[in-house]
Amino acid sequence: MAEKVSHITFLVLFILSILVTYTEQLQSSQIQTLLRIQQLLNNPPFLKSWNNVTDFCNLEPRPSLTIVCYEGSITQLHIIGDEGAPQLPESFSIDSFVTTLVRLPSLTVLKLVSLGLWGPLPTKLTRLSSLEILNLSSNFFHGTIPPQISSLTHLQTLILDGNNFTGGLPNGLDSLSALAVLSVKNNSLYGSLSESLGSLENLRVLALSNNKFSGEVPNLSSLENLQILDLENNALGPRFPVISNKIERIVLRKNNFTFGIPEKVQSYNQLEHLDISSNRFVGPFLVSLLSLPSIAYVNIADNKFTGMLFEDLPCNPSLHFVNLTLNLLSGKLPSCLVPSSKPMVVSYAGNCLATGDKNQHPISFCKNEALAVGILPHHEKRKKVSKIALALSVTGGIIGAIILVAIALLVVRNFIAQRPLTKPPVRFIEENASTSYTSNFLRDARYITRATMLGALGLPAYRTFSLEELEEATNNFDTSTFISEGSHDQMYRGQLKNGSFVAIRCLKTKSSYGTQHFMPHIELMSKLRHHHLVSSLGHCFEYYLDDSSVSRVFLVFEYVPNGTLRSWISEKHIKRKLTWVQRIAAAIGVAKGIQFLHTGIVPGLFSNNFKITDILLDQNLAAKISSYNLPLLAEYVRKDHLQNVLSGSNDFKSARVRHQDKFDIYDFGVILLEIISGKPINLRNEVEVLKDQLLASITADDASSVVDRVINGSCSNESLKTMMEICYRCLHKDPVDRPSIEDVLWNLQFASQVQDASRADSHSSDGSLISPMQSSNLKLTIRQ
Ligand SMILES: *[C@@H]1O[C@H](CO)[C@@H](O)[C@H](O)[C@H]1NC(C)=O
Ligand SMILES: *[C@@H]1O[C@H](CO)[C@@H](O)[C@H](O)[C@H]1NC(C)=O
Ligand SMILES: *[C@@H]1O[C@H](CO)[C@@H](O)[C@H](O)[C@H]1NC(C)=O
Ligand SMILES: *[C@@H]1O[C@H](CO)[C@@H](O)[C@H](O)[C@H]1NC(C)=O
Ligand SMILES: *[C@@H]1O[C@H](CO)[C@@H](O)[C@H](O)[C@H]1NC(C)=O
Ligand SMILES: *[C@@H]1O[C@H](CO)[C@@H](O)[C@H](O)[C@H]1NC(C)=O
Ligand SMILES: *[C@@H]1O[C@H](CO)[C@@H](O)[C@H](O)[C@H]1NC(C)=O
Repeated sequence: MAEKVSHITFLVLFILSILVTYTEQLQSSQIQTLLRIQQLLNNPPFLKSWNNVTDFCNLEPRPSLTIVCYEGSITQLHIIGDEGAPQLPESFSIDSFVTTLVRLPSLTVLKLVSLGLWGPLPTKLTRLSSLEILNLSSNFFHGTIPPQISSLTHLQTLILDGNNFTGGLPNGLDSLSALAVLSVKNNSLYGSLSESLGSLENLRVLALSNNKFSGEVPNLSSLENLQILDLENNALGPRFPVISNKIERIVLRKNNFTFGIPEKVQSYNQLEHLDISSNRFVGPFLVSLLSLPSIAYVNIADNKFTGMLFEDLPCNPSLHFVNLTLNLLSGKLPSCLVPSSKPMVVSYAGNCLATGDKNQHPISFCKNEALAVGILPHHEKRKKVSKIALALSVTGGIIGAIILVAIALLVVRNFIAQRPLTKPPVRFIEENASTSYTSNFLRDARYITRATMLGALGLPAYRTFSLEELEEATNNFDTSTFISEGSHDQMYRGQLKNGSFVAIRCLKTKSSYGTQHFMPHIELMSKLRHHHLVSSLGHCFEYYLDDSSVSRVFLVFEYVPNGTLRSWISEKHIKRKLTWVQRIAAAIGVAKGIQFLHTGIVPGLFSNNFKITDILLDQNLAAKISSYNLPLLAEYVRKDHLQNVLSGSNDFKSARVRHQDKFDIYDFGVILLEIISGKPINLRNEVEVLKDQLLASITADDASSVVDRVINGSCSNESLKTMMEICYRCLHKDPVDRPSIEDVLWNLQFASQVQDASRADSHSSDGSLISPMQSSNLKLTIRQ
């Protein structure tokens, strides 16, 4: 903004100066100053023509010389010498030179480039308090950059490239709030970079290359306009800089960067040029870099990036330079990197790619090298990996993959399934071969989620979390935050920085799957958000460094604080029981959640093995399903289990495929039975006994024997009867005879309405039941 304004200012000044100077002479003192400058610069050839009658304000601008005047004063002075101009002789005094220069107090632009100027930069220069652009490149200044420079508060561009400045960047640069360009390339500056760099909010260009800066790059995430970050050839690191996402060019070449590329890089939609070559990066190469929307140049040469490339990896078509040389990559060269018709430079020598070329190492080389740089072998990594992973995730983690939630859910389900519980025969795993999700990147999944589902839900957008963030939320997974444990996972409660609580499921993966494998699951996961599901907020994963496979997955869910539905219905010693109206509402919530799982996503999720202990209540007592089935993961987590369970039962399998939705209906019936009876049901024969009682009650039109005493009497008969009937039908032995989820919902809503109406009836004289439903829809017949 400030910059734009100043451009306009320049333009106006320039036009004015042209108009004005035809009629107005430069003040003679300014002429004297220029002539003195000429003299101090040792009368260089390109200033030969200057003399006391030169009309300075109306010189034809040349690349080597531009003077702009305004109202008799010089506002711009550009003097550009020959490239490689030698140092001015010993007799030159930078002090006299600057003393002369400051007699041009209106200067807003001063460029003195390649003039052989030498000496320490005099602080007197800061008397040019209107300066907006200062370019002193390619001279021989030495000493430190005077901190007083920060008093030039109009400064927008400060360029001191190609001198021999030493010391650090001056303190107080952050008071240069208009600064848009800071370039100090090719000097001998050293020391660490001050955090205050991160507050130069208008900075567009930060170029510190070819110095000796060391240490971490300060957090630059507030520099929202930063387009160019050039840190080449310093000793910065080890963490990848934190940069905001308007960045167009990142050059980290030849530094001391070690930890992997943060996942955030995937959001750099304007990134065109990425050069992180010749560092000490370890960890997986983020292949999605090759398909960033604007990317044209990728150089990761001479690092220790690991991971597998695939032939069908996508690339941005405008990619014209890719250097993967000297890393530890395996797999195949992506076909989009095989130069075809278009001009494209691709180098990949010195990896372990299966290209058949001599310039590739055998795969064992990459493995060993990975070990040599401290990357742990697959079998020992478990203990140590979290340190490395932490480091990685501090930088943002890598890849986008995720998976997970699903795994966790399955694992937990698996765990729960081992407890004696009521369930119809075989309800594990959906081997749903037709389930194929397209493998878009997480990024896309996030967009979909954001665009389509969020508003209505009031949930934050699905996102990736850093491990650091989760550790902070749980006080390093402190035992006080521990909620529960399954055979493969633990559940923790965490509090995010914004104060909200989350449930974090931590899952160790068993097999070595790369992130690609998990993409579909992540995508699916990010879509599984519904008011009556405990919805996913995001994920975080760790992976092994040696082969980029996922080592641990953290699934972050909304935290549902009010306990399980059972704890409000049938647990012993409960303080408060749900009323009939609340029970119907909870049942409707569960049914809506099921309906969403069956029909709200494509393909639907069936065979979810619902249990009342997996239904949680939120602060408004809205029911949320906390455990559901993600079929694709079955192959991964439950392989061994599956084989045992399904061995030979083809009949079941095909029946299940045909009536897959009806298994969930049965489970729902069991939940409903507990809601109605108020008795905890844990065994299958308990279901049978209660179901018989239910039938007897319905037939005898006497609910008292089966219905929870707490509600008996407080509910309308018609409402209760409707619930009992639908419950009974859900529990039908033959899946074909069980109602559809729509039918179930319809009946529950009817039960709710007649209940409301009966209450209204008892409170007012107008007892007419106004129901949009036709009672002929009511299916009262019970088939057996
Ligand atoms: C310009 O300089 C010349 C000698 O270099 C001198 O004779 C002349 O008086 C000067 N003119 C003005 C206007 O100062
Ligand atoms: C400084 O000025 C010189 C001469 O005009 C120019 O070549 C160079 O690009 C400028 N430096 C920057 C960083 O713009
Ligand atoms: C900086 O130094 C590099 C080589 O060290 C050189 O190629 C580049 O032209 C120099 N840039 C400037 C602005 O001096
Ligand atoms: C730059 O300054 C350092 C320290 O003052 C000195 O050692 C070095 O030789 C200088 N380099 C050049 C190119 O003048
Ligand atoms: C960088 O700063 C931003 C805001 O100033 C903060 O949100 C972010 O967590 C910081 N990142 C790191 C890695 O410190
Ligand atoms: C590079 O980083 C490592 C830590 O990762 C540090 O020990 C080392 O001193 C750094 N090297 C330089 C030259 O700063
Ligand atoms: C790729 O990087 C290697 C190692 O830094 C370098 O030797 C090679 O010249 C680079 N290739 C190209 C085409 O620049």
